[in-house]
Amino acid sequence: MMLACAALLAGCKDAPRSIVPGGEVQQGLRLVTQYQCGACHAIPGVQGAAGGDGPALDHIGRLSYIAGGIPNQPANMVRWLRVPHAVKPGTEMPPMGLTDQEARHMAAFLYTLR
Ligand code: HEC
Repeated sequence: MMLACAALLAGCKDAPRSIVPGGEVQQGLRLVTQYQCGACHAIPGVQGAAGGDGPALDHIGRLSYIAGGIPNQPANMVRWLRVPHAVKPGTEMPPMGLTDQEARHMAAFLYTLR
């Protein structure tokens, strides 16, 4: 599977492992699909995710910073996904009404994109 191989931390044989406490990669993939993040983002492995309003998320797990200056760490990512405007006032990324748990799952998935 491409997803498994994309997960640097897990290697190619095992299911991808999560680096986000309480986050599960497969749940994240499901949620990212369900919430249609792909309307605004190109996201590898997510069917139909080819939107161009936001940045492509191909290598989001590898970036040092997200949203132009926020250190790319799990806690910051989870917060960004839940309340982007609180992390970066004036951002065009809308709050999607995620629970903390949903954001953890999504972050776990996003970190497999390297
Ligand atoms: C209405 C369009 C829109 C939707 C829907 C949307 N985003 Fe975004 N997203 C953006 C924009 C625009 C940015 C750039 C924000 C900035 O830098 O201020 C962004 C930035 C991001 C970033 C940081 C990217 C980077 O390279 O720094 C991540 C991660 C992200 N979005 C994930 C998601 C996820 C996951 C969802 C679904 C829950 C989602 N987005 C839904 C528009 C959207």
